Amino acid sequence: MLPLTWLFIHLAFILPFSRTAHAKTCTLSPLGVGKDDTDQVEQAIATCGNGGKTVFESGTYNITRKMTWNLTSATVDLNGYLSFKPDIQFWLNATNTYRVVFIQNQASWFVVTGSDFVIDAHNTGGIQGNGQPWWSYFQTHPRADGDGRPISLTLWKATRGVIRNFRIVSPPFWSNTAAESSDIEYNGMYVNATNTDPLYIGKNAVPNTDGINTYRSDKIVMLNWDVTCGDDCLAVKGNSSNIIARNITCRGGNGIAFGSIGQYADMNDNISNVILQDLLMTRIDPNVQPNMANGVYFKTWTGSVHGVPPTGGGGGSGAVNNVVVKGVHLDRVNIPLHLYQTNGGHTGDAPSTLKFSNLRFADWTGTAVTNRIVDIECSAAVGCSGVSFAGYNISGPAGQAPRFICQNIQGLSGLSAPCNATGQM
Ligand SMILES: *[C@@H]1O[C@H](CO)[C@@H](O)[C@H](O)[C@H]1NC(C)=O
Ligand SMILES: *[C@@H]1O[C@H](CO)[C@@H](O)[C@H](O)[C@H]1NC(C)=O
Ligand SMILES: *[C@@H]1O[C@H](CO)[C@@H](O)[C@H](O)[C@H]1NC(C)=O
Ligand SMILES: *[C@@H]1O[C@H](CO)[C@@H](O)[C@H](O)[C@H]1NC(C)=O
Ligand SMILES: *[C@@H]1O[C@H](CO)[C@@H](O)[C@H](O)[C@H]1NC(C)=O
Ligand SMILES: *[C@@H]1O[C@H](CO)[C@@H](O)[C@H](O)[C@H]1NC(C)=O
Ligand SMILES: *[C@@H]1O[C@H](CO)[C@@H](O)[C@H](O)[C@H]1NC(C)=O
Ligand SMILES: *[C@@H]1O[C@H](CO)[C@@H](O)[C@H](O)[C@H]1NC(C)=O
Ligand SMILES: *[C@@H]1O[C@H](CO)[C@@H](O)[C@H](O)[C@H]1NC(C)=O
Repeated sequence: MLPLTWLFIHLAFILPFSRTAHAKTCTLSPLGVGKDDTDQVEQAIATCGNGGKTVFESGTYNITRKMTWNLTSATVDLNGYLSFKPDIQFWLNATNTYRVVFIQNQASWFVVTGSDFVIDAHNTGGIQGNGQPWWSYFQTHPRADGDGRPISLTLWKATRGVIRNFRIVSPPFWSNTAAESSDIEYNGMYVNATNTDPLYIGKNAVPNTDGINTYRSDKIVMLNWDVTCGDDCLAVKGNSSNIIARNITCRGGNGIAFGSIGQYADMNDNISNVILQDLLMTRIDPNVQPNMANGVYFKTWTGSVHGVPPTGGGGGSGAVNNVVVKGVHLDRVNIPLHLYQTNGGHTGDAPSTLKFSNLRFADWTGTAVTNRIVDIECSAAVGCSGVSFAGYNISGPAGQAPRFICQNIQGLSGLSAPCNATGQM
């Protein structure tokens, strides 16, 4: 059941390209307050982004328009921050962002593409998203999927790339996306979306600040992440395969998601071979971030179509196969493990035909603040097959009988408590 073969394969797949003989090195430093660094950054990448090395000295680089880095056999030492100008109306104008992330027509202000590259931010640089004005603005203005809030770092059609020791501070929206990419290793990623506007103390003022979404991508490895956010810490979306995440700390938010999937009626969403290992989900000060919703959760739209993406959808099919979630510690989450197939649904909807199979949960410890210790509600149309547990020990609130809900599962094993449709024992 454990997809060991490809686990071993992954250890070899990120091949270091020759970095011994860089043809060119470009070195730049920030121009200073009031100046615009976009031209010099683009110039450096144009000169040294193909077979060369670009060194950003520490400091803050003022980026005032959308930017693509096309890196080929290149290294970037990003010791400082790319600071994207805090001008909400500018970025919301669709002409000022890229729309390369197909799902929900999401916007990007910075796209990295190409092959055989390393971007190392040495834990001293990355992206400053200047998210606070965005978060405050969208507390009083409507917000929707695909509305143009930009993703901070988008990898698109990138292959054999490494993003190392990178920091994304104050992202207005999703922090990272890997789309249509393969053989990518993110090693050392710090994300922090923390509201400091006193008006919104105690509220989740940072919605949709996901740590990453993977979409239409293969062989994505995420190691050593520390994410403080108000939404999904990691989200595995449609057509993600051979995904590994290890040593991931999620502080607040919704936990780790599979989904939403099945939003597009005319497309299958297939997800296969995912290993998530050594995860910590921890609730933080509720004045800073009130949510710590899940450990790991899986969600699909229903089998009925309600409108069209980016905001509506449903009716999509597909399959999620071979998922291992191992070595999980939960600190006061609402629902440790949740699977539901009614996202965006209405009563009377057709059940989803998106099928989950071979899900394995091993070595889970910690606490939940509700008594729903397991809640797996598979679609009546297709069910789930092969759901196994080993060493699943989560404590609910004292004095409340724990509930274990398992609907429409064929081949359930390894839980020490009875698990059935209602969770009533
Ligand atoms: C960034 O550059 C713009 C000019 O494009 C300038 O008006 C603005 O003051 C600069 N921002 C900072 C923080 O230096
Ligand atoms: C990136 O550069 C490579 C090599 O120069 C080129 O083949 C490719 O088309 C470029 N990609 C984009 C998106 O511009
Ligand atoms: C968006 O930006 C373009 C290019 O600068 C401009 O022509 C257009 O008027 C802007 N649209 C809005 C709604 O501001
Ligand atoms: C996130 O940022 C907030 C505000 O700057 C800070 O108080 C907090 O310590 C940071 N969290 C982590 C894990 O670094
Ligand atoms: C886990 O990742 C954190 C960064 O988020 C790092 O400080 C720590 O050393 C890593 N732990 C291991 C065992 O690699
Ligand atoms: C996922 O891959 C399948 C099979 O290649 C394809 O039919 C489907 O359209 C893809 N879905 C998405 C969302 O790209
Ligand atoms: C995607 O899922 C559909 C529906 O379950 C299945 O028929 C198809 O073979 C899958 N495609 C791939 C590439 O896994
Ligand atoms: C489950 O975890 C609790 C601590 O939360 C511990 O006291 C108990 O011994 C564990 N049970 C098993 C079977 O490991
Ligand atoms: C759930 O399973 C338990 C143990 O097998 C059983 O006592 C209980 O009656 C079941 N509840 C329902 C509603 O089937």
